[in-house]
Parts: sequence; structure tokens; C-alpha cells
Amino acid sequence: MATPDDCSGWLLYLSLAAKCGVDQPHRLVGFLVVCAVACLVTCLLHWCVPGGPAWGRWWWTRRGKLLGSGGAVVPGPRGLPVFGSMWLMTGLAHRKLAAVARRLRATRLMAFSLGETRMIVAAHPDVAREILGSPAFADRPIKETAYGLLFHRAIGFAPHGAYWRALRRVASTHLFSPWQVAASAPQRAVIARQMVRAVASSGRGGDVVVVRQVLRRAALHNVMWSVFGRRYELEMDPARESIETRELRTLVDEGYDLLGKLNWSDHLPWLARFDLQGTRARCARLVPRVNRFVGGIIDEHRAKRDEDHPSAVADFTDVLLSLEGDDRLAESDMIAVLWEMVFRGTDTVAVLIEWVLARLVLHPQVQDRVHDELDRVVGPGRAVTESDASSLVYLHAVIKEVLRLHPPGPLLSWARLATSDVHVDGFLIPAGTTAMVNMWSITHDPEMWAEPNEFRPDRFIDSATADVNVMGSDLRLAPFGSGRRSCPGKSLAMATVAFWLATLLHKFDLQPASDPARAVDLSEVLRLSCEMAEPLAVTVKPRRSDYAGEIDTDGR
Ligand code: HEM
Repeated sequence: MATPDDCSGWLLYLSLAAKCGVDQPHRLVGFLVVCAVACLVTCLLHWCVPGGPAWGRWWWTRRGKLLGSGGAVVPGPRGLPVFGSMWLMTGLAHRKLAAVARRLRATRLMAFSLGETRMIVAAHPDVAREILGSPAFADRPIKETAYGLLFHRAIGFAPHGAYWRALRRVASTHLFSPWQVAASAPQRAVIARQMVRAVASSGRGGDVVVVRQVLRRAALHNVMWSVFGRRYELEMDPARESIETRELRTLVDEGYDLLGKLNWSDHLPWLARFDLQGTRARCARLVPRVNRFVGGIIDEHRAKRDEDHPSAVADFTDVLLSLEGDDRLAESDMIAVLWEMVFRGTDTVAVLIEWVLARLVLHPQVQDRVHDELDRVVGPGRAVTESDASSLVYLHAVIKEVLRLHPPGPLLSWARLATSDVHVDGFLIPAGTTAMVNMWSITHDPEMWAEPNEFRPDRFIDSATADVNVMGSDLRLAPFGSGRRSCPGKSLAMATVAFWLATLLHKFDLQPASDPARAVDLSEVLRLSCEMAEPLAVTVKPRRSDYAGEIDTDGR
């Protein structure tokens, strides 16, 4: 959108044109040359300010006020004229940002430009707290894909205000409250047994198990059960998978890909009309399919409620349908909210469990200690239950250490947007700036963590960092964010991850695949979450002979 500054620039050029009388060819050429030089000079002036062109543009229009107030400029890379530092947000953005911040000694707070977007990134717990806890950063910047997929009407991207508050309240009460998390434990237990069966049959005879396929299906089924009341079999053979689950997986995969991509036209609005990356076209194709899929499930729920139990609430769709008065949602909003839950609940949980299993395969002595703890707390004679979780101290330390080394959202997934001018770490940050926290950088900072690159779960048992809480109160390790927009699903996520891991490890000993080409590779790829670039492949050894019988009898 054109700002008043842009308009005044163009008005100046036009009045100059009128004055020069550009109706004659040589005057027109002269005028165009003057304009080109003026553009070039403007670009260079914008670019020469720390942080690059988007910051320069703001600085030149506000410098009078800034100099008057003694305002310093946030340090940061200039990048390229016009484009700024777009390359920083491609590939492993968290690592690139950390490296540039170190080089420029801007590790607390760094400014940079993504085209016309002013960005800041914090990599110190105190500065992160200032951003995440501030009401001025309670909004999120909305990308074109989020709009295209209608996510601006769902919790994650809804502007801070009455609508967002109402959605969060409903979700916190009916999906994420401690009571609800406990009430859905039997559902997670059924899926855990299905996972054990799937892993056992995939790994029979020493075959390699690609755990990601099992984990993603399990997480998707879990969220579909809570949100839509849908129960699916964990079917690993694509030929035997139902049409509905196959369609669902394609929709989710396409949505991940769209939301996880850097869309250039979000930051260079003059590119938007060309849709060079095909994002808009893909969103336009995906949305009707999602509407059909989710809308169909909502219709079924409506019909069921009309028929027999108008007040029965079995899942989150029923909850949304039962809302009355101001809380009542339009059909399209309901689809957005439900669809977002499917998204958020699926990949994060599967990604985290895969990282934990990878670390356990690489560190057999740690896996042995987890096995010892499970044998002590649970014993061989019964299955793990969620109530065992509080006694599995070492397993929790392992999960925390993996959250530290491989946070699923190294840049806290979705950024924040300044809705008013605000001071951060002593710098004036203007309204409209996008703020990120580089949690990966904080969790790898030697000033915060001893030997930060080492995998040492014991740091959460017997050292100064033993009591670090991962739920958002301690910004040295806040993988779920912090403040009013922190992750509402964190307790559910931790309960699911701990229980499923405990169940798998109670049953199996995980070992590296015998083929060296499939050795554990800790390379990352940053999409919507930071995943293992090479899916983890393991061989599994049953820890007892009883598991097959147990699975066959009640592993529905
Ligand atoms: C390991 C699992 C998970 C991780 C690491 C994770 C991480 C995050 C992070 C970093 C944020 C942004 C926080 C901020 O801006 O301060 C977030 C937001 C969110 N998460 Fe999670 N999450 C996980 C699981 C879940 C689950 C299971 C659900 C729901 C089923 C969920 C739903 C959401 C929603 C709706 C938001 C947006 C909140 C808002 O903007 O108000 N997350 N999550």
C-alpha cells in the first residue's frame, strides 16, 4: 500500500514533469533521466542506514524527531538496496540470523529489512521478554498465504482484540484446559497402542522403520479425534489407507508447504500482482478443497445434533457449534479455527518426537537410562499410563534438552507485529515493525548454557539450569513462546510427547539402521517447523516378548 511519503515523492515528480513541459521528446528523456537518478539516490540513501532499506526509509522521514530525542539506530545488516536481506530468511534462517548478529555484535537486538518490511530479531532472554510480554506486540504480521488460507480468522493470526480473545477463551476451556487434557488421555492411549503395532510390524524381521511416517499419522489422527471426533486406523500401507485420510494428508501437506515458504510479495508489494511463486493460485486451489472437507464434517455434526443430541458435546466441532450469542461463529470462521488446530497440532508434536528419537539412537547410554527409568517406574508387567509421566524425571530432562538443541520453532514460528511505537532494549521501534525472537540462538548461547552444543540431559537434573521451566516463564528456554500469544497447546503437546515416547521406549530398543547410508543425520530443514532434513530411519528390537500379544488383543 502506498504511504503518504511515497505519494508525496510521486507528486513531486509529477509537478516537476508539468513544470519541465515533457511534451517534447528531449525534455521527456531528460525528465526520465532525472527521475531515474532521483530514484537511485533515494534507494542509496535508504540503503545506507543500518538495517537496510526499510529502516532507511523510516529513518529519513523520522530523523528530525529521532535526532531530537537522541534516538540511536538498531544495528543490523544493510543487505541489498530495495531487497534488503531477503536471503537471511531462506534456508536455515535461525542460523544465518545468529551468524550475522554475532558478526555485527548485535546479539541482543538486530534490525534488518525484508524488502519493504522492517524487521527486528532478539536473541537475548531479557530483550525477548520485552517483546513477547509487551501489549504493543500482541498482533501478528499476516502473510498473503495466511490470508489466502483464511487463517486471519483463526487464533494464530487473528488480530489481537475481542474476536481473538473469544476464540482463545473457547479453545483454552474446551481443548487445552488441564481437565480436557486429562479427559483425552484414553484417546492418546489408543493411538499409542496403534503406533506400537505400526512400528512393530514395519520393523519385523529387522526392516528399517521410518518413524516420521508413523508419528505424523499418529499426531494427525490424534488431533482429528479431538477436533472432529474422527477415529482412523493407523494404516501404514498407502494402498489400504482410506480415501478420507489420504485426502486429509494431501491437504495438510499442501498447507504446510504454503505457510512455511518465504513469499517475496509479502515484502515487495509491487511483485504481488505477478504471483511469481504461484502462491495465490495454490491457495485458491486449496481453500475450496479444505472448505469441502471441513465443511462436510461440520454438516455431519450439525445433522447429528439436530437428530438426537442437540446439547451433546463430544469434540471441538460440537463446542464451536454450541456457541451462542456474540461468541457464535460464521461457518467460514469455524472452518478456519478447526483447520488451524489440525495444522498446529500435527507437525510440531511429530517433529519433536522424531528429534528425541534421533538423539536417543545417537546416544545409546542416554537411551539405556530412559529404559532403566521406565523399568523402575512402570516395570515389565503393565503398559505405561499418563499418570506415570510425573515420575519419569529423566525422560522429561531428555525432552527439555531436545527442545533446547532442536526447538521445533527456532524463530518461534510466527512473528509479532508492533501495533504502536514502542521502546525495546532502549531503541525506538516504530509501529508496523515485525519482531522475531531467535530462540535457537538463545538456547545455543554459551553465556546462558554450559557447552551449549553438547547433548546433556543431566543439565536439567543436577545443575544450575535444572529448574528451567519450558512453558514460557523462563526466556532462556521458551520453545512455546511467552506472553499473551504463547502456545495454548503447550500442556497438551508436552503430555502427548512424553506419553508416546514413554510408550515407544517401554516397548522398543531403538538402534541405528544397519545401512550406513541411512545413519542418523542431524541436518535440519526449516519449513513451518524445523525438521530433520533426512527422515530418521531405525531398526527396532522389542524389549519384551509380550508386546505382540498385547497389541493384537487391544491395539485398536
Ligand atoms: C511441540 C509442540 C508445539 C510447539 C513447540 C509449539 C510452539 C508454538 C509457538 C512457538 C507459538 C508462537 C508463540 C508466541 O508467539 O509467543 C505457538 C502458537 C500457537 N500454537 Fe503451538 N506449539 C506446539 C503444539 C501445539 C498444539 C498441539 C496446538 C493445538 C492443537 C498448538 C496451537 C497453537 C496455536 C493456536 C497458536 C497461536 C496462539 C496465538 O496466536 O494466540 N500448538 N506454538
